[in-house]
Amino acid sequence: MAQVRFAEVDIVVPDGQSLLDALEKAGQSIPSSCRSGLCHACLLRADEGEIPAQAQSPLSSRQKAQKLLLACQCYPTSSLRLSVPKEASRVKATLVDKVPLGRDILRVRFTSDVAWFPGQYTTLWRNDTEGRSFSIASHPERDGFLELHVRKRAGGVISDWLDNRLMPGQECLISQPRGQCFYTPECRFHPLLLVATGTGLSPIYGVLKEALDIGHTFPIYLYAAAGDPEGLYLVRELKELAHAFPQLHFRPVVRRQPEIGMLEGDVVDVVSSQHEDLKDWRVFLCGTPETVRKLQKKCFLQGASMSAIVADAFESPLNV
Ligand code: FES
Repeated sequence: MAQVRFAEVDIVVPDGQSLLDALEKAGQSIPSSCRSGLCHACLLRADEGEIPAQAQSPLSSRQKAQKLLLACQCYPTSSLRLSVPKEASRVKATLVDKVPLGRDILRVRFTSDVAWFPGQYTTLWRNDTEGRSFSIASHPERDGFLELHVRKRAGGVISDWLDNRLMPGQECLISQPRGQCFYTPECRFHPLLLVATGTGLSPIYGVLKEALDIGHTFPIYLYAAAGDPEGLYLVRELKELAHAFPQLHFRPVVRRQPEIGMLEGDVVDVVSSQHEDLKDWRVFLCGTPETVRKLQKKCFLQGASMSAIVADAFESPLNV
């Protein structure tokens, strides 16, 4: 085990536990998303101590020289003193409104001067050290605001702050949006397969609206999955879009108690049984890492090239 110091608190990291898990278990709110070294949301700086090589392997030489590390990839073996790197790129955002979208999903909308592509993610900062990454569902010009879908959690530091404390008109800081999950002009000439679990629908909704807005005419299949019908959201809006755009096929999928028009089962099985040939398709998969990994493999085996699959996996830590 190793001892680390973060935000003036001493924390023990047991052997085999990631620094990110240990900090969260100790009640610290660290920005995170993929938890697999891809998104770089969990970037921290080691002000003192030796950084395990694996915690820096996905980083640039410049980031390594700055003593940055990825908390989700860091398994410390000796003591470290850590801080959240100050980003010159944090900018102000003003909360416009917040609206419940379903049983436990909150839609929050901000105005801000940042630029983004629908489907990228940003980190929302409650203070200097507590932040959380969320994917963006809106378009900067066409919608004019930055829309995020937040799952409300009992005791969640960031979701509780958004739900109960940050009020319309108040400001906070956000990071420059990042990530590869967005519709590119090259997608325009291919059928699209979009699959979301939970709030993975946020980036998928952004990608979908971008595709429709720029006139995508090839078929688009969108699967939104949840445990039960109550866990789904934006169902009415997506049905209306499917009605208005015949190329869009919307398929809600639930594991139990399906309502009329819903498919029942595991979303991996449902999608793979309905799309046996994905050659030339463009695929966007957003949601929990396990489901995204399984879907990625299935889609590849069913003909999609790896370069045609965009996978945006994220975990939701319990205290967010
Ligand atoms: S790289 Fe650590 S959460 Fe994504």
